[in-house]
Amino acid sequence: MNWKDKTIFIGDNLHIMRGMNSASVDLIYLDPPFNSNRNYAAPIGSKAAGAAFKDTWTLSDIDQAEHGELAEQAPSLHTVIQAAREAHGKGMQSYLIMMSTRLLEMGRILKDTGSIYLHCDPTASHYLKLVMDSIFGNRNFRNEIIWKRTAAHNDSAVYGSVHDIILYYSISDSFARNEQYQSYSDEYLKRYKHVADDGRRFLDRDLTAGSLSGGGYEYEWNGITKVWRCPFRTM
Ligand SMILES: C[S@@+](CC[C@H](N)C(=O)[O-])C[C@H]1O[C@@H](n2cnc3c(N)ncnc32)[C@H](O)[C@@H]1O
Repeated sequence: MNWKDKTIFIGDNLHIMRGMNSASVDLIYLDPPFNSNRNYAAPIGSKAAGAAFKDTWTLSDIDQAEHGELAEQAPSLHTVIQAAREAHGKGMQSYLIMMSTRLLEMGRILKDTGSIYLHCDPTASHYLKLVMDSIFGNRNFRNEIIWKRTAAHNDSAVYGSVHDIILYYSISDSFARNEQYQSYSDEYLKRYKHVADDGRRFLDRDLTAGSLSGGGYEYEWNGITKVWRCPFRTM
């Protein structure tokens, strides 16, 4: 690894990533421009005042050499980007070229056990899904996470637009995943009134699954064959 852990790099991430060793990163979360067709400036008076970034994309923003490189380096990605141009226009094409050159580098610097979370919104999420499938492989698509950003509200003439999207991919099947746990809520614990001698809590309700939607497990238990709520193993 030719870079130091816990470093903040400042500058265009493409050049920074190109200087990083392959397979040296565990996890990437990116919150890039969304192709929102707006330009952003931090509010005057805020700590970030003066900071700005442009989120409108035209072919003149794109290094044409990069576009040519994509055709050679990743032909399926190039086809996807051409299709986006047909379906959506040159702005989407330019945006996807900018994203793809960087996402290819991210694929290179991630370890075999690594994962990537791409934060986007419905403006480009469906095109980015195709880009991500081309780079990381559809088999490595793990989740589309829907992040409800705001409370319900009315947008004129359409349903309220309230969510962002996070596309989660791994590099391979052997991706690292550190399961997170939190304590049960009191309300949940109250549903399990009984406590066994070993401290484990349990319910004493009807274990037949006749009225459950989605079915249950059919087997014989104590001479009675029925559809039960739990598998034989845990009965
Ligand atoms: C959607 S904003 C993310 C904001 C940030 N996550 C936050 O919550 O404040 C996208 C950011 O990406 C930055 N950006 C755009 N192109 C970049 C590039 N090539 N390299 C590094 N940063 C870039 C922009 O300056 C902008 O700050």
